[in-house]
Amino acid sequence: MRHLICCALFTSAFCLVWATGSSAEAAVRAGDLRCEYVTNPLGVEAARPRLSWVLTSPQRGEMQIAYQVLVASSEEELRAGEGDLWDSGKVTSDQSTQIPYQGKTLSSRQPCYWKVRVWGKNGEGSGYSEPATWEMGLLSPSDWKAKWIGFTPGWPGRALYFRYSFSLKKPVKEARAYIAGIGYYELHIDGTRVGDHVLDPGWTDYSKRVLYSTYDVGGLLRQGDNVLGVIVGNGWYGMPKLLLQVEVTYADGARDQFCTHGGSVGAGIWAVTSGPILNNSVYDGEEYDARLEKPGWDLPRLTPPHAEDAAGAIGESMAGQGKAAERAEYWITMANEVEPPGGRLVSQMIDPIKIMDTLHPKKISEPKPGVFVYDVGQNLAGWGELRVKGERGTRVTLRFAESLYLDGSVNQENLLKAAATDVYVLKGGEEEKWEPRFTYHGFRYIQVEGFPGRPELQNILVKAVRSSVEGNGVFESSNELVNRIQKMVWWTEVSNLHSVSTDCSQRSERQAWLPDLAVRSETSFYNFNMSRFYTKVLNDIADTQAEDGSITDTAPFKYGFRPADPVDFSYLSLGWFLYQHYGDTQAMADHFEGFKAWTDYMAGTTKDGIVPYGYWGDWTQPSAYNLEGSDQNAVSKTTPLQLTSTGSLYYCARMMSQMAEVLGRQDEKAKYDALAETTAAAFNRQYWNEAVGAYGNNDQAANSFALFLGLVPEKQVPRVVENLVKDVQAAGGHLTTGYFCTKYLLEALVTYGHADVAYEIVTQKTYPSWGFMLENGATTLWERWEQVTGGGMNSHNHGFKGSVGAWFYKYLGGINTDPQGPGFKRIIIHPYPVGDLTWVRSEHTSMYGVIRSAWRKEGKTFQLKVTVPVNTTATVYVPGSDVSHVAEGGKPAARAAGVQWVRNENGAVVFEVGSGDYEFTAK
Ligand code: BGC
Repeated sequence: MRHLICCALFTSAFCLVWATGSSAEAAVRAGDLRCEYVTNPLGVEAARPRLSWVLTSPQRGEMQIAYQVLVASSEEELRAGEGDLWDSGKVTSDQSTQIPYQGKTLSSRQPCYWKVRVWGKNGEGSGYSEPATWEMGLLSPSDWKAKWIGFTPGWPGRALYFRYSFSLKKPVKEARAYIAGIGYYELHIDGTRVGDHVLDPGWTDYSKRVLYSTYDVGGLLRQGDNVLGVIVGNGWYGMPKLLLQVEVTYADGARDQFCTHGGSVGAGIWAVTSGPILNNSVYDGEEYDARLEKPGWDLPRLTPPHAEDAAGAIGESMAGQGKAAERAEYWITMANEVEPPGGRLVSQMIDPIKIMDTLHPKKISEPKPGVFVYDVGQNLAGWGELRVKGERGTRVTLRFAESLYLDGSVNQENLLKAAATDVYVLKGGEEEKWEPRFTYHGFRYIQVEGFPGRPELQNILVKAVRSSVEGNGVFESSNELVNRIQKMVWWTEVSNLHSVSTDCSQRSERQAWLPDLAVRSETSFYNFNMSRFYTKVLNDIADTQAEDGSITDTAPFKYGFRPADPVDFSYLSLGWFLYQHYGDTQAMADHFEGFKAWTDYMAGTTKDGIVPYGYWGDWTQPSAYNLEGSDQNAVSKTTPLQLTSTGSLYYCARMMSQMAEVLGRQDEKAKYDALAETTAAAFNRQYWNEAVGAYGNNDQAANSFALFLGLVPEKQVPRVVENLVKDVQAAGGHLTTGYFCTKYLLEALVTYGHADVAYEIVTQKTYPSWGFMLENGATTLWERWEQVTGGGMNSHNHGFKGSVGAWFYKYLGGINTDPQGPGFKRIIIHPYPVGDLTWVRSEHTSMYGVIRSAWRKEGKTFQLKVTVPVNTTATVYVPGSDVSHVAEGGKPAARAAGVQWVRNENGAVVFEVGSGDYEFTAK
């Protein structure tokens, strides 16, 4: 008997070891849990938040066949395995992204603790993941007890300082701060700055929507005296207003709220004063007089007012403008309740703007005595942190610019009306460190005037500031020029992500132009996780939409036309790309009526199927070829505006039909199929030139846009392609397109068998080309193909010529979405080893994990390394003529595990693979 028991014990122990051993080897695991694209977010407002996780497995071809999600209202419940909010049960499904929560209705502030377990393709379970959380925001207007406050008499140009002291009688368990301070705010609690957002909240049309941020401030508040201090600047709003609600839960479970309010209602008074920020403007810069600082302004025990000092300083810097009140008191007065901005309060789910990088200037010069110019070596968006020691009252000026005059001083002409100048007045004493709060500049050079003594390189530290979207792309190749273009595109994109996609980062514009986004967004999808950013942009666009369906050229709307140029189809294409890149159907569904209304609006303007208007079209073609040559007007001479407008309507009709199909709206699908058909017919009637075999005036823009859209009747395709290639050759291998059709030129050339011609265009160093910009010292993309620096429209950090960035990933790297499996559930790997390239390494982090495509050419051997994330499949195109010449992992590819040969196609051998790492070799 004893023997038997021993045996049984041994056997089960053995089984256990065997089972654990094998599951450690073979197990599929879930990690990187996210809710609404974010790790452990606060302030979630979606009624059915979408959950996702990333699977890993050491096995090839691994798939999820089932999952179980538990969502609990407390950590303890979750630990006990209780999903009191939602227990999905075992769901047979391979879905691991975009899973809508389907539990109990969630109310404001509800914390949710969740975990997931999954089953792999062989049926083995994973065990539960590490837990994750999310917390609901303030879902109803009635949750807001706070009132908007400001200071009506105002101090024009100056930032406002708000202060509120209060006492907590009991120990604090946890606390949240919900805040919207517009234009921009900075929140302090008891002397500590809360969070790391800058230029917060994101810019919106404040009359429609105001974003509030949620902070966990439990660790900052304590039993006893506390102070909330908030500095609010003008930002894009122009007049500081604050709304703040701090909610405290005590250790005993009781709760308290501390809210902004005017007057002396309830406990405490919100005091307001001005301070050292004498001027703050996004375009013009910030002026800061450190002598006006109020030390301890955000601490419970206020140090006595430095009334004397302040009075003196105000006298000096405001030339005695008679601010008697300021001399008299440290905290001037009570803040008053002000008119709310009008918009609905919405939780800020977009990645907040942050300081994302610091750079040390490379050089310093002295073009004139006492005038010093720092060269950062990189054009970027952000500001400089000044370190200076000198006499009290010394005034140091920092002027920002993208280019220099011949004498070495900064040239600010192309900033138009933006003064782009920061001023710091020293308080004296120890070394002072200062950076602005409520402005940012687009620059490479900083001119410093008034510096006490001779500044050294370390007296300025440069901070790159942008929306903190996660990087999710890597692209490198054997061609250094291509790498430099990729770097230039990357820097341009990051300089122009400031809660909206700005056109430029420096001049008195910085608007979210929608035509630019139409061609630029795909590049950012490949380089960054844009899921939250573009969801916000869609709302910005929707906020511009009028009753008649028209939208505006910029969103938030400040510049441009209503109705927008039809090339502004970014409203639809962002929805479509969110679906292609993240499998997001929510954004499409939320905006479907808006997309329809804009498409219908454009369709309603047509005469004989042609959209009769357009303002920009293929704007900024090279002036040597196609422009009138004016610095202000960059409308093409050769590409009719109505051609790009009508083509855009066709594109919208097609996207509408595809989206209607995904959303199961068959009637609408039929309607937009019909619109696409009539628009295609009209386009061909109007612009097809039978004699020449081309569109419009047979320029690159017209032909490539028609080809890209698939508007060319099949039998005419060869003629149009021939004309297109001929035109490129006639231009010496150069493009003649503007910001818009450049994208379609490169795409069409690859699609129609001329990837080599596209590569030739991309790798030019002479005008007009990206290489020409680099040869002339560019570190970010220019607005114009020409090198200009005068007072016209010539930004040197302009996103819209960056579509080549997506082209690198899609065709040189070969990483593509597959419409058959949106969100990279299915992937297409199709690299084009063109020109002199001998290797490329590309990576993209999808919602399923990292996708890799890296290839190398050596003699006649082509090697392709591919990584396919768990729970996805890929179609892989290996250059070659026959499967018998292709090996995978050293074995004939046709027999390699998890690799299936499908067909040979246009010089490529095509395989289907599941997840895992693969190494193909073709000879
Ligand atoms: C912007 C462009 C925009 C254009 C209109 C310019 O001022 O900088 O990016 O597309 O206006 O086409």
